[in-house]
Amino acid sequence: MNLLEGKKGIVFGVANQRSIAWAVAEAAVDAGATVMVGAQNERMMESAQKLIDGKSGFSLVQCDLNDDAQIDAVRAEIEKSHGTIDFAVHSVAYALREDLAGRFVDTSREGFKVALETSAFTFVAMAKGLESVLADDASLITMTYLGSLRVLPGYNVMGVAKAALEACTRYMAYDLGDRGIRVNAVSPGPINTVAARGVKGFTQILDVVSERAPLKRPAEQSEVATTSVWLLSDLSKGVSGQTIYVDSGYSVMGL
Ligand SMILES: NC(=O)c1ccc[n+]([C@@H]2O[C@H](COP(=O)([O-])OP(=O)(O)OC[C@H]3O[C@@H](n4cnc5c(N)ncnc54)[C@H](O)[C@@H]3O)[C@@H](O)[C@H]2O)c1
Repeated sequence: MNLLEGKKGIVFGVANQRSIAWAVAEAAVDAGATVMVGAQNERMMESAQKLIDGKSGFSLVQCDLNDDAQIDAVRAEIEKSHGTIDFAVHSVAYALREDLAGRFVDTSREGFKVALETSAFTFVAMAKGLESVLADDASLITMTYLGSLRVLPGYNVMGVAKAALEACTRYMAYDLGDRGIRVNAVSPGPINTVAARGVKGFTQILDVVSERAPLKRPAEQSEVATTSVWLLSDLSKGVSGQTIYVDSGYSVMGL
C-alpha cells in the first residue's frame, strides 16, 4: 500500500546507513513520498549523498538545526522546489561524550545546555522555522527514548533532554492542531547507531532488552521506520501529542 503517495517531506538526521533517519527516509520513499534528506554538515552531506546516489525520490539539503539562518535557507529551498511539505521528521540528538557516562549529577552547566538545545529545542526550531511551508494536516515526528521516564545509567542528561522533547511534542501538538497539523514522538528501543554507541553501557542495555522484552529481541530500524510511515500517513489522522513505543514491548515490563 502506498501510504504516502503524492506526499512531500523532509527528514533531518541522516549520518550514515544505520541512522534511524535514513531508515525512515527510505521507507517514506518506498511508500510513495518525495523526501528531502537533511544532513548536519559537509561530512554528513557526503555520506548522505552516497546513500541517495542513483535512487529516485530523494534530494539533499544541509542544515544544522542549531542555526536559525540555515533553517531559514531550508524553508526557502522548500518554497522554491515544493511549495509546501506534508511531513517533517526530526531524528536528531547530541550530548557531550563526558555527560553520557558516570553520574548524572556531575553534568556541567554547558553540557546540560548543549544536550537540551540540540536534542529538544531543535524540534521546536524546526517546526517554527518550517511552519509557513507546512501543509494543513501535515505530520511532524521526532525520535525519543525511554530514558525520559526511567533511569538508564549512562543515558543521563540525554534522558532529561528526551523528557523535554516529549513535553515539547505535546505543546507543539496543541499549538499547531488548529491547522490539522499533528505532532508525535516515536520511542525506539536500543538500536546500534553512532548516537547510541556514544552512551556508556549501551551494549548492556541491548542485552537486557533481548532477554526481557516481550518479543525477546531489540526492535529494528525498519520497524521504527514503518511505524513512522504510519504516523506520517493519513491512517493515523486522529493521533497527536503522543509518544509511540517501537521497542519490542520492553517499556511495559516491571522486571
Ligand atoms: N539508536 C538508538 O538506540 C535510539 C533509541 C531511541 C531514540 N534514538 C534517537 O533517534 C535519533 C537518531 O539517532 P540515531 O540513533 O539514528 O543516531 P545517528 O547518530 O545516526 O543520528 C543522530 C543525528 O543527529 C544529527 N545531529 C546532531 N546534531 C545536529 C544538529 N545540530 N543539527 C542537525 N542534525 C544534528 C547527526 O548529524 C546525526 O545525523 C536521536 O534523537 C536518538 O536519540 C535512538
